Amino acid sequence: MPAPVVILEKRGLVGLITLNRPDALNALSTRVMDELTAHIRTCEADEQIGCMVLTGTGRAFAAGADIKEMADKGYADALLEDFITRNWEEATRCRKPIIAAVNGLALGGGCELAMMCDFILCSEAARFGQPEVKVGVMPGAGGTQRLSRSIGKSKAMEMCLTGRMMDAAEAERCGLVSRIVPAEGLVEEALRVATQIAELSRPIIYMTKEAVNRSFEVPLSEGVRFERRLAHTTFALEDHKEGAAAFAARRKPVYKHR
Ligand code: CAA
Repeated sequence: MPAPVVILEKRGLVGLITLNRPDALNALSTRVMDELTAHIRTCEADEQIGCMVLTGTGRAFAAGADIKEMADKGYADALLEDFITRNWEEATRCRKPIIAAVNGLALGGGCELAMMCDFILCSEAARFGQPEVKVGVMPGAGGTQRLSRSIGKSKAMEMCLTGRMMDAAEAERCGLVSRIVPAEGLVEEALRVATQIAELSRPIIYMTKEAVNRSFEVPLSEGVRFERRLAHTTFALEDHKEGAAAFAARRKPVYKHR
């Protein structure tokens, strides 16, 4: 039985998923993506888990799609297998939040995978880039779309056309990452934040995530209307009453996720 290339550990209310192919800088082979997809689904189905953290072992988060695996494929192979995108979008399909804890290189598909997560914490060692053009391909897992929405056209275009890497400070400055955390405490901090989220009302977390994501898809007036509809529905939840009651009683709320 070969060692898993993606590891899932349960840390209380959080599913910690670690890409574990350090010798290949966690390159995202078919096997990696299959195992990652299975773990995300396991976490999504596990009632105890309320949030996930995705990170990598070694000096990379992930250095992109597996170039060696891509080398022999022709156009028909890529099209018929739906190569790259076949199951790469799983992180965007699940309703539980996923925090990317980017510990090192996040290149090509690695940067795209991090951007599919709900937000990115990174260490000072993080480097982000879309270097696909340098190896005769182009971003194929949302890089041209999510990067430009995240950091604006000019920077995204420069990154995609030149393949240059961005360091952690620049990534924080332009809003690609939410925060930089010292390397030795990165995963612990991501787990702490994930636990905080997992302790909140799950229906409200699901709705809030859905509403923020909606802002990237629809005009402002539609987005605001969608948000208001969801916000009104939260009044029907037991957790809504519990939140208000706990606030008034100056105690910690105990949510039933109902
Ligand atoms: N695919 C397969 N193997 C990879 C890889 C990748 N994307 N990135 C690194 N590796 C492997 C290397 O081949 C090497 O393995 P061997 O020791 O067996 O030769 C090992 O990881 C270590 O890498 P390096 O020796 O190259 O390490 P380095 O420090 O000298 O360089 C690097 C680091 C600059 C990241 C360099 O490895 C590199 O340029 N990697 C490719 C990055 C890239 O182009 N990513 C985009 C891929 S295409 C894509 O992702 C398409 C998409 O949109 C989904």
